[in-house]
Amino acid sequence: MDFSHQFPSSERLHYLNHAAISPWPRASADAVQQFAEENALQGGLDYARWMGTEQRCRERYAALLNAAAEDIALVKNTSEGLSFIANGLSWQAGDNVVLPDCEFPSNWLAWDALRRHGVELRQVAIQSPQHVEQPEQALLDACDEHTRLLAVSAVQYRDGFRLDLGTLGRFCQQHDILFSVDAIQQLGMLPLDVQACHIDFVSADAHKWLLGPEGQAVFYCAPAQRPRLQPSQYGWKQYEEPFDFDRQHWQPSSTGKRYEPGSPNSLGICAADAALGVLLEVGMDEVARLAMANAELLRTRLAACAGVAVSTPALPRQRTAIVNFRPLQRSADEVYRHLLQQGIFCAQRGQGIRLSAHFYQRPERIAEAAELICAACKH
Ligand SMILES: Cc1ncc(COP(=O)(O)O)c(C=O)c1O
Repeated sequence: MDFSHQFPSSERLHYLNHAAISPWPRASADAVQQFAEENALQGGLDYARWMGTEQRCRERYAALLNAAAEDIALVKNTSEGLSFIANGLSWQAGDNVVLPDCEFPSNWLAWDALRRHGVELRQVAIQSPQHVEQPEQALLDACDEHTRLLAVSAVQYRDGFRLDLGTLGRFCQQHDILFSVDAIQQLGMLPLDVQACHIDFVSADAHKWLLGPEGQAVFYCAPAQRPRLQPSQYGWKQYEEPFDFDRQHWQPSSTGKRYEPGSPNSLGICAADAALGVLLEVGMDEVARLAMANAELLRTRLAACAGVAVSTPALPRQRTAIVNFRPLQRSADEVYRHLLQQGIFCAQRGQGIRLSAHFYQRPERIAEAAELICAACKH
C-alpha cells in the first residue's frame, strides 16, 4: 500500500525518529488548518462540533486500547498521567513501588516523589545478563505483600526492549497490585489490549508512534480503579453537569472525565483525532506488521555491515520497531551528525544511535537509509 499522500515527509527525508517526535499525517495538518481558519472566522461559534471531535478522539483512543470511551481522559502528556496515579492513590509508609531501573525519567520521577510518604522504590535491573530470558520474573520477584504498584514502560525508550505485559498484569491481578503502563513507545506501533493484559492505568502522549502533536495525551484508568484514584487537579470540567455553573454541590464525574479539570486542548485534539483515524483505518495489526518489517530490514542490513554493531534485545519477542546500533570505527556523535547532513533523522541514545521507522515508510527507502548508514560508519 502506498501511504505517500498521507505522509509527504516520507520521500523528502529518511525519517527514523518516530520514537522521539513523528511527522503528522496530511489528515492532521489539514484538520489543524481548517480549525485555525474556523477560529479566525468565527471563534467558538460551533463549539458543539468541537465537543463532537473531542468525543470521537476519546472513542478512537478507547478503540486502540480495547477500552470504553468513558475510561479515557484526554490529558496533557505522559508525565501528567503518571503523576495522576502517584498523587491520586492513598499511600502508606512501608508501601513499595516496583519498576525497571532503565525507565525514562518521567516513569520514575513520579514514583520517586512518593518517598515523602515513606514509599520505597524497588528498581530492578531487568536487562542484566542473568535476566535475559525472564525479565518479567525479575520484576515479579521484587514484589512482596507491601507492593502497591508495578510501573513499567511497555517498550523501553532507549532500545525498544519490550516486556510481556500479559504476564505482569496477570500476576498483579492475582496479588492485588496495581499495574501502570507508560505506553508512549508502544501505542500506535503495536496493538495494546488493556483488558487482556489486566492493566489498571495507561499513560501516553500522542507525538511519537501515534503520529499526533506534543501536549495531547491519553490517560486510561480501569473502571474498577476510578473510585480509588482520586483526582489531584480540580476544575469545572471534571464534574457531572460541567455547564451548570450555578450549582453549589458538585459531584466529580464517574467517568475518566474526572481527570480533566479544565478546558480541553481543542487544537491538539483536532490533530490527534485525525492521526488516530489514519492508524485505525489502516488497522493496528497491519501497522505493527509493516513497522516490524521495516525494523527487521534495518536490523538485517546493518548486521551485514562491517563497521556496525547492532545491539537490539536478545530475544525476538523482546524486539520492537526500535533498532539500535553502535558504529565501530567512528564515534556515535560523528556518525549522527553525518547522517543528519544526509537527510537521515535519528537519535543518539545510550552509547549508540537509535533508529525508529514507522509503518508507512517504503521498504526501498528503508534499504536506502541502511546503505547510507553503513557508508557513514565506514568513513
Ligand atoms: C517511555 C517514555 N515515557 C515518557 C516520555 C515523556 O513523555 P511526556 O513528554 O509525554 O510526558 C518519553 C519521551 O521520550 C518516553 O520515551
